[in-house]
Formats: sequence, C-alpha cells, structure tokens
Amino acid sequence: MTEETLSNLSHEERRFEPPAELAASANLTAEAYERAAADPEAFWAEQAERLDWHQKWDRVLDWDDPPFAKWFVGGKLNAAYNCVDRHVEAGRGDKVAIHWVGEPEDDTRSLTYADLQQEVNKAANALTELGVRAGDRVAIYLPMIPEAIVTMLACARLGAPHTVVFGGFSSDALASRLADCQAKVVVTADGGYRRGSASALKPAVDEARVKAADNGHRVEKVLVVRRTGQELAEGSWEDGVDVWWHDAVDGASAEHECEFFDSEHPLYVMYTSGTTGKPKGILHTTGGYLTGCAYTHWAVFDLKPETDVYWCTADIGWVTGHSYIVYGPLANGATQVLYEGTPDSPERGRWWKIIEQYGVTIFYTAPTAIRSFMKQGREIPDRHDMSSLRILGSVGEPINPEAYVWYREVIGGNRTPVVDTWWQTETGAIMISPLPGVTAGKPGSAMTAIPGVAAEVVNDEGHPVPDGSGGYLVLSKPWPSMLRTIWGDDQRFKDTYWSRFPATAERGAYYFAGDGAKKDEDGDIWVLGRVDDVMNVSGHRLSTTEIESALVSHPKVAEAAVVGAKDEDTGQAVCAFVILRDEAGDGGDDIVAELRGHVRKEIGPIATPRQIMVVPELPKTRSGKIMRRLLRDVAENREVGDVTTLADSTVMDLISGRLTSGRSDEA
Ligand code: PRX
Repeated sequence: MTEETLSNLSHEERRFEPPAELAASANLTAEAYERAAADPEAFWAEQAERLDWHQKWDRVLDWDDPPFAKWFVGGKLNAAYNCVDRHVEAGRGDKVAIHWVGEPEDDTRSLTYADLQQEVNKAANALTELGVRAGDRVAIYLPMIPEAIVTMLACARLGAPHTVVFGGFSSDALASRLADCQAKVVVTADGGYRRGSASALKPAVDEARVKAADNGHRVEKVLVVRRTGQELAEGSWEDGVDVWWHDAVDGASAEHECEFFDSEHPLYVMYTSGTTGKPKGILHTTGGYLTGCAYTHWAVFDLKPETDVYWCTADIGWVTGHSYIVYGPLANGATQVLYEGTPDSPERGRWWKIIEQYGVTIFYTAPTAIRSFMKQGREIPDRHDMSSLRILGSVGEPINPEAYVWYREVIGGNRTPVVDTWWQTETGAIMISPLPGVTAGKPGSAMTAIPGVAAEVVNDEGHPVPDGSGGYLVLSKPWPSMLRTIWGDDQRFKDTYWSRFPATAERGAYYFAGDGAKKDEDGDIWVLGRVDDVMNVSGHRLSTTEIESALVSHPKVAEAAVVGAKDEDTGQAVCAFVILRDEAGDGGDDIVAELRGHVRKEIGPIATPRQIMVVPELPKTRSGKIMRRLLRDVAENREVGDVTTLADSTVMDLISGRLTSGRSDEA
C-alpha cells in the first residue's frame, strides 16, 4: 500500500491568457494577492467599505473563540438598504436592476432600482402586518419570479432571517425545514411554469404545514403570489392563514423606514444535505456575508455596473442564487437577467436567445448544463450572436477540461476568460478562482485562492502537500462570509468542519471542506471531487474527477460519472457510466474497448475502468450534482438506495435496465 493521499494523474498543458483589454482595465489586479496576504484584516476592512454602514465597526475580526467568528464587530447596517435604497439615493433609481424573463415567451418584466425599492418596502410593510418581526424566520418557496427576490430583500430589511426552499423540493423536504427553523410565515405561489406547463406549488405548502404541525410547529401565515392563475385544489384555502400577495402587498405603503442591525445579525439559513441524516441549516449573518458577496462579484466577474449585463442561471433556492443573484449583484448595483424556466423551453436554444436579446456580458452557470449542451451539439448555440459576452463563469462541480474548452470556444467565441469558481454553501462566497484580468487560466483548474482567502491542500496529518501531489482541501484562515454555525447545532458545526484537522498553536484552526484536491507543479489547485467519492484501487487513491475528465475528452463522450466498486483483486475497481454525444449515435460496437483504451492512454493503466456502461442519463440532485452513491449501488449489484433527492426518479430504472441488458464490458 502506498501512503499517498490522492493520486495526481492528469496533465494539462493548455493555458489561456487574459485578453489584453480586460487585463488593462481589470477591477482587481495582481498586486492584491500580496497586499491581502500581508494583512488580511486590513484587506477585508477595505472590502467592507464597499457597503454603507450605519455605524462603523470597532473591530474587524473576533476569532477569540474559534470556530465561532464575528466580523466587523460593533458595526450596524441593513442588507436590503445596501442592495436597493442606496443606489436610488445615489441617483441610479432609473437603472434596471432586473430584466425578468418568464418561461412563457413574451412574459417579461423589467424592474429598476426605484421599482425594486417600492416593491421591497411594500412587502416589508405587508410582512410586518402579518406579524413578522426582527429575528422571526420566514420560509420562501417560490418559482424564479421577481417576488422571490423582493421577499428575500423584504425579510433582510426587517431583520427576519429567510430560508429559501427550492421550488422543486417535496412537501416532506419543506416540512422538515419549516420545523427545523421554526418558520412563522411561508411565502409561496399558486404554481410556476416548468417546461411549458403550470405546476402547482401551493398543495406542497398545505401538506408541509400539516406535517410541521405534527412535529409540533405551527406556521402562522402563508402569503401566496398568483403566478399561473391555476385553480387551487378544493379546500386548499384556509381563511386566517392564507393571504393573497396582491391583497396584502399591492395595497401596502411604499414607504418603509428601515432599522439597522448588528453586523452579526442572522441574514439567512440555507439548508444543504449532509452525507447522512437531516439537512444542515447553514447560517449566514449580515456584514461579513454581504462584504464577501459584493467583493467577489466585483473582483471575480470584473463587474462594471454601468455597462455590464450579468446573468447567473442558478435557482434562488441554492446558495449561488443567494450570493450571485441577490446579494452580490444588487449590493454592487448591477443590471441582471433573471430567467424563470428551463434551458430547453420552448426550444433548446432558449438561453442563447436570451443572451442575444439582452446583450448579456457576464454569464455564470454550472458544468452540468455545459455538458448537456455539448451533448446536443454546437449547431444550437451557433445560431445566436453572443458576441456581447466577455466573461464566463462556472460553479458547482469540477469542470472537465473538455467542457471548459467547449464553453470558452462555442459560447465565448474564444474571447472570454472562463472563471472556474470553487466555493460552497458554507463558504458563502467564491474562495478559489482565477481573476479574469490577471490569471492565465488552465482548463479544469480553479487555480488559486482569491486575494484575502487562504486555501491549502493537506495530507492526513494536516501538513501541506508538495506541489504535484493531492490531498484534502482546507481553508486556513477565517473569512467574512464563512458560515457561523449550523442552525441550532453548534456541536455538529464543530464536528463536521473543524475537527478533521484540529487546531494547533502553530497553524490555528483549519476549515475542512470535504473536497479532495491537488496542487499541480505550479502550485495551482485542482478540485478532485468529494472525499467520500474517492476510490482506492490497489492502494492508490484515485479521484473521480480526473477519470471522468479523461472520458469526457474523448470526442464521442458528453458526460461521465465514475465510481469505485468492490473488487476481489484490487480492493476497488473503477466503474464508469457515460453519456454519448448525440452526433456519436450508439458509439459503435467497439465503444467500450475504445473508451477503456482512451483512459489508459490519457491517465495510465491504474485508472482503466473495469466496466463501462453507456447510459442515457445520470442520476443528479436537483442542483445538478451527480449522485455517485446510487451509481455505486448499481456497480456493486445492490438494490438502489434512497432516491428521494434525485431530480428525476426514473433515471435509476433506465440505468439499471441498461446494466442488465448487457452493454457493459467485464473484461
Ligand atoms: O464539491 C465541491 C463542489 O460543490 C460543493 C459545494 O456544493 P454547494 O454547497 O451545493 O455549493 C454549490 C455552489 C457553490 C463543493 O464542496 N464544487 C463547487 N464549485 C466547484 C466544485 N468543485 C469543483 N470546482 C468548482 N468550481
């Protein structure tokens, strides 16, 4: 057995220098790295100055009792005031904040910052009328409509932490979140549009309210936006509990005096699934979080608020929607696109059409979406003029080098840098990423921690690994947008993130991210997937990401997922599931041998898959992450486990069926 923590298998020679023009006018330049490292607190204090503080802080960081941090101690501010009012007061009220695009074509609406101010104030008054006070929790279960953002900001304005639950989650998922954070009010809609049809949301809230009550928690009010106009189910309306948005909000006063809250006042709770047990309520607070979002959105996307049109395709039900649709862009006074629907409705080029129509300049999406466009072929995006784009971003998973290059070439016309941004619900904001005007990007690498952030790759003992080796990704210094705890469970917070590498006097506390990573020969970071997914083949720890990327670099492959399955000879063996590009048809008779040979050539014999299965779909969570746990069940011929968090529960039948139909190679 070798002692290596994680093997470094793949090599990548391609580099993309920043465009000269971008480099010349970049918001953040190379000097910031050293300046921030020399005095991180001073650097973060400078970033906090991007915000309007009602009262300035006395102390930048209180890290006296790790892992419990306080940032900008003694400062007071209002997050909604920073995202809306201050832009209006500065004379930018007529600037468009949100170009909203509904899924049904021609259903669009643009809101200026002045419009947004009015809407937020009305909603804040209406929520107050419904009994919401500072500190009360409000759950939001809405489609991607402007009211979702308005409600989040109205909550922030009132100091009432919101918890947004993704509209695709079931009533059970909603109920457990309502009960866990004891939500007083739920804001929802009759329904939303998905792939051309109206699907109901209100029934899930009705059910969740009953389930939460069974667990001893009573939701007091439900505020309902009429989005689709669909008929409500018989008996769904409960007078005294259910209230229409248009009754409560539309007539409310558009004047609202905001209160200023402590920098550490809770801003929101975002639930994220743990490996086991109940979801974790990640708590973010106000001053540090908003500083992190505003700074990173400005630096990593090089935002020029006067000229850019920004679009992030995430759902507001995920942290990406919180940090990079709501808090970052609005704190920076950006103009952005908000799209309600799916990328393929009513046609597969819908996203590219929106980019063309609105002249989008900065575009932020996920690798899973990019790979699905690769599968469909470039003819679809090629029909649109996307020359307005100047920066592309990626988030959520490692982006395979081939997907990165495709994104850059086909979507970005080979002009645009791609920023591969690594972060988590817990980190609140981007931690590791290229800077578009500074970094020569390497496809597949998130490169280095951004100025102000300290990341390291360490071995089992917590010692930094040398360049060219793999290990565990940690953050070695506190940062303003860090999670403050898990809602109601400080112990779980300590156990999950801070006990894997206990603090020593020498290095202090390390935040354990749960991801494997390597440093290449230049010291740049490559994120290699969750450590729970690492495979151990003949004593070598192999990352799923590197083998998947090798498969995706084959011209017939659009997407791949790799897992380890028990093997008598090698401990574990590599099993791969691949989706072919449409143009490759069924791949031909020798596809399996061809792909095994390709991996052997790209990475080496150790990584050669024992089995390769060509499948039509892969099991993914609703935020697009591949659920390798379910694929391990298939690879080990087990009954497939819990599929409740799958986006499409029929996918596993397709895959299991494929396995028994013999399209696998047992060689
Ligand atoms: O495994 C990493 C992966 O997504 C995880 C965080 O997921 P979540 O909390 O849902 O937040 C997603 C949006 C920030 C990480 O632990 N991940 C995210 N971005 C990247 C990534 N893996 C590799 N490269 C990335 N750019």
